[in-house]
Amino acid sequence: MMPKLASYNGKVDLIENIKVSPMSRAFLFSDSVYEVISFYKNEFIDFETHLDRLNHSLNETKISCLIEDCRAEIEELLNESKSEDGYIYYQVSRGVDSIRSHFFEESDCERFGFIEEFSFFNQSPLRVMLADDIRWQRCDIKSTSLLGNVLQMNDAKRNGCNEILMHKNCELTEGGASNIFFVKNKTIFTPELSSKILPGITRHQVIKIIKDKKLDFEEGSYGIDDLKEASSIWFTSTTKGIVGVEEIINLETKINPECELLEICKDAFVKKYFS
Ligand code: PDD
Repeated sequence: MMPKLASYNGKVDLIENIKVSPMSRAFLFSDSVYEVISFYKNEFIDFETHLDRLNHSLNETKISCLIEDCRAEIEELLNESKSEDGYIYYQVSRGVDSIRSHFFEESDCERFGFIEEFSFFNQSPLRVMLADDIRWQRCDIKSTSLLGNVLQMNDAKRNGCNEILMHKNCELTEGGASNIFFVKNKTIFTPELSSKILPGITRHQVIKIIKDKKLDFEEGSYGIDDLKEASSIWFTSTTKGIVGVEEIINLETKINPECELLEICKDAFVKKYFS
């Protein structure tokens, strides 16, 4: 396996050479935000949109960091790497504390990223568990505080699943690490943007495709009952692309693995971003 390249506060090195203080607020408080940005044939996919979302996360959490520094460091990681296809994980923490305190002072942010080789094709249909959304109320921020997702996803894993589909008091929100779409009566639906979900970049890309193709589409607030009637359910994320659901283990559905609308969107997605 190729040695993994990483960057810590602007210095590129092998990941095993990077030393991080245990007083980092990322370590103590999960006081950090992140992005996962894919690249294909050595070119980023929707880099500017990822930087905009990172900037939103930084502003909303009041972490002082110049987005141009992030841009330069992420670009340097890709330039230094020999990988053709993969993604970059990049996080910014509020910094390193001298005394652990919930109250933060103005400090230098701490930036860390690494590059991972990855093949974006051949994603198998997902086995999913419906789960309570036990997360905080600012899920539009891409925070590294992911305990709600982690606990529910590992509960699902123990039940043979590889994703969860979350709901808050029966209102559908999103997957553990992806956004959701479903098809009912030949219309494609997805939960509208709000502080309850992450504004996924892949979600945005898929909506653009749906609109370009003039497919019937609606964004709104949907419930578990809508899923029971769905003929197809999809998850979208930077690392999954668009992938269908084969089964929800704790909900009876009418999902049909053959979905023409899914195939149209998948084909257009691959053509636009991966060819
Ligand atoms: N996760 N919702 C959640 C909770 C996510 O964690 C993600 C992505 C998405 C999809 O966002 P995007 O299309 O921008 O990747 C939605 C990344 C991949 C992760 O944490 O690894």
